Amino acid sequence: MTSFKSGVVKNIAKLVCLVLVGAALTAHAVSDKERAHIEERIQPVGQVCVEGDSSCGAAVVASGGAKSGEDIYNTNCMACHTTGAAGAPKLGDVADWDGRLSKGLDAVYANAINGYNAMPAKGLCMGCSDDEVKATVDYILENSK
Ligand code: HEC
Repeated sequence: MTSFKSGVVKNIAKLVCLVLVGAALTAHAVSDKERAHIEERIQPVGQVCVEGDSSCGAAVVASGGAKSGEDIYNTNCMACHTTGAAGAPKLGDVADWDGRLSKGLDAVYANAINGYNAMPAKGLCMGCSDDEVKATVDYILENSK
């Protein structure tokens, strides 16, 4: 009787060991495969990019430095010039922009900088320099011919 009992106990002990080893192995295998996914899920929404850090990709805009025409357009001009709100000439509308350019590029720049009818001065980008507004007009014209 006793030997039978101890045999059962040994078997149970073996079983427990197997389960534990199995669990440990499984946990390890999963952790390697899952680690990348977990890290992906828990990473912060925004990443800090230090100026000059090439690992951040091309999207890094030097703070304080000149902004690109495309960035300014997307932030300040898009609301009117993508939808045509208030009669704004749409980005990509070749005929509209051609007509406006007939008075000369400098006049178009000046209207963007100083405002013109429903076009607010600098497109309300009060932090933009004249050159940045010109670069933004260039961006619009580049994409409207
Ligand atoms: C609140 C809406 C609004 C925003 C924001 C806006 N625009 Fe305009 N824009 C207009 C409207 C409306 C016109 C057309 C004015 C007209 O022809 O009477 C116009 C016209 C222009 C013209 C043509 C000027 C000409 O001589 O015909 C340029 C260039 C221009 N916008 C550039 C910009 C730039 C660059 C930005 C962003 C920095 C910007 N706009 C933001 C509404 C806007």
